[in-house]
Amino acid sequence: MPRAWRTLTLLQHVLVVALTLVGLIRSATAGADVRLLTLTCAAFLGWYAVGVFRRWTSPWWLLALTGIWIVLVILSPENVWIAFSLWLLAGHFLPLTGAIAYSSIVLAVVIGAPWLAHGMPSLPEVLGPSIGAVFAIAVSRGQIQLVRDAVERQRLLDSVIAAQAETEELHAELAAAQREAGALAERTRLSRDIHDTLAQEFSSIVLLARAGRAQDEAALRATVEQIETTAHAGLTESRRVVGALAPTDLEDAGLPAALRRLTTALTEQTGIAATVLVDGPLPPLPTGVEVALLRIAQGALANVRQHAQASRATLSLNGTDDMVQLQVSDDGVGFDPEQRVRVSPAQGGYGLAASRARVQERGGTLTIDSAPGAGTTVTAAVPLRPEVRWT
Ligand SMILES: Nc1ncnc2c1ncn2[C@@H]1O[C@H](COP(=O)(O)OP(=O)(O)OP(=O)(O)O)[C@@H](O)[C@H]1O
Ligand SMILES: [Mg+2]
Repeated sequence: MPRAWRTLTLLQHVLVVALTLVGLIRSATAGADVRLLTLTCAAFLGWYAVGVFRRWTSPWWLLALTGIWIVLVILSPENVWIAFSLWLLAGHFLPLTGAIAYSSIVLAVVIGAPWLAHGMPSLPEVLGPSIGAVFAIAVSRGQIQLVRDAVERQRLLDSVIAAQAETEELHAELAAAQREAGALAERTRLSRDIHDTLAQEFSSIVLLARAGRAQDEAALRATVEQIETTAHAGLTESRRVVGALAPTDLEDAGLPAALRRLTTALTEQTGIAATVLVDGPLPPLPTGVEVALLRIAQGALANVRQHAQASRATLSLNGTDDMVQLQVSDDGVGFDPEQRVRVSPAQGGYGLAASRARVQERGGTLTIDSAPGAGTTVTAAVPLRPEVRWT
């Protein structure tokens, strides 16, 4: 309940008591029966108080109060002024038309009682109570509107606060989801990078060590050197993977040179004749695209080494302003890409899926051309202006 409402209600109670007491004194002064008057006044105030405390806001309570008032007026017309309080109550507890009808009847009593007692009233004696009645109804209706506005304001405020709380909750959920997505993306990046670099380097080291067992001292020395170089490269890569940095090869000399380094190592370690073909000048490549293509080449060459039994492998790189394409082909045993079932990363089968995910993240495609006995060609095509696709 707003404070203004409480104040007005209190004023109303004070007014009822004051008007009743003034009526009592004036009636007594005018010679009315004081005992009877006091009793009726007490009944009037008592009934009013009971209604206020028990919150009887029904028309019946008001009607009964009006009945006691009429007795007071019969005892002395000086009590007509209590009518002002009745008009205020009517404005509160009756619908507007009912309040107007009730107030008109009360007004008739207010004007009629002195008329019967003292003869024809003057114009101010008629106008005064009429204005009072209208004023009282207007005040009480205004008071009701005040409460309605306050309640509505409170309701709006509550809904704004609730909406705010909901928004905060959503923000928190969004932030948590973003954190989770960020953690997932970071895990995916780490596992792909470990697969395309460290895992391949470890597998090279294993193969070299295995080959070294059967070698004479001179050849063994060369193999140990290769193992050392590969382990060293793996160490550097591991630091860069953990630090989420671009591969050293790229920083030093760009993608074609990094690819050449891969083919040279493959040839040195396996004897497979591996070459890099760069078709014309390449457009400037964003670091992210270069890293993705280097990783895809690393994964594809690891497959050549592990599965293809090839004698030749070729990396071709070409690009336009809008896209860049890397092709890794070999003349090995090939396989049926449809048949290949992906198992768990621990059992392998992760490399091609990871390469496909890398290009798809950049809006590109990865295609695998292979058949048993017909060699394998893996093609990664990456757009250089992904936003073009959305316009
Ligand atoms: N160049 C290739 N020649 C022959 N078979 C290939 C070639 N590339 C892929 N494959 C076949 O496709 C399968 C899936 O390759 P993928 O790189 O996804 O996994 P993986 O090499 O078996 O394991 P991982 O890459 O996780 O170490 C391979 O197991 C192999 O059978
Ligand atoms: Mg593989």
